Amino acid sequence: MPNDQTQPLLIPNHIALIMDGNGRWAKQRGLPRNAGHKQGAKVFETICDYCQKIGVRYVTAYAFSTENWKRPKNEIDAIMDLLRSYLKEASKQTKRNVRLLFLGDRAPLAPDVQQLMRKAERDSAGNDGITVCIALNYGGRAEIVHSAKELARLAAEGRLDPESIDETVLVQHLYTKGIPDPDLMIRPSGELRLSNFLLWQMAYTEFVFLDVLWPDFTPAHLDLAIAQYAKRNRRFGGIR
Ligand code: IPE
Ligand code: IPE
Ligand code: MG
Repeated sequence: MPNDQTQPLLIPNHIALIMDGNGRWAKQRGLPRNAGHKQGAKVFETICDYCQKIGVRYVTAYAFSTENWKRPKNEIDAIMDLLRSYLKEASKQTKRNVRLLFLGDRAPLAPDVQQLMRKAERDSAGNDGITVCIALNYGGRAEIVHSAKELARLAAEGRLDPESIDETVLVQHLYTKGIPDPDLMIRPSGELRLSNFLLWQMAYTEFVFLDVLWPDFTPAHLDLAIAQYAKRNRRFGGIR
């Protein structure tokens, strides 16, 4: 058996990221919370580039939750403005080979943001380098309710036999349809919870919690999380 050093590092196929700690990062520096979101957005791009470089196929990042509407309007507006800039920039960088997707309920978002999201998805649909999913106005519970509602509607219309509903059918109506479940979930910021992120999809995901704030997160932190992941014994309920 080769020892640990000679084994290539096991790279997760799909990494889920809870980009948390932007507000605290800004507070530490005496800056407005929005400065933390701005730095957080930069780090997001750096980490996506790094993931692509090391061979991660999917990254799903939590950008705005269904509960984040509780925040002051000026903070929400600033986050949406950062998203606008990101999407406008992304549309210029066609050579990056990133496929962009959005998870969540788009209806409450501003029409111009929805349009930019649709354009980014359409323009990048043929890219096969890495798939970056941005969870925006996303909630794990809302997603499951959305799927249940779709199934009920199809059943009421006589297009679906309720007896045929199983896990495979239910996942067809989740926002993540067609995307494999995350292998590794990383939450920086020191909080030890999921905050309504990918509740269905993370049934067997490995969790790594780090005591760093998202705007301070570097590729070295990602390496650290992957090294922890590589040591885990994933059993999926079986014996190994
Ligand atoms: C995460 O950082 C970004 C969003 C939730 C949009 P926070 O804004 O939650 O930062 P903290 O947790 O208050 O430090
Ligand atoms: C989770 O962070 C949501 C995002 C990172 C977008 P929160 O800061 O909203 O989570 P809680 O409120 O600490 O659980
Ligand atoms: Mg937070």
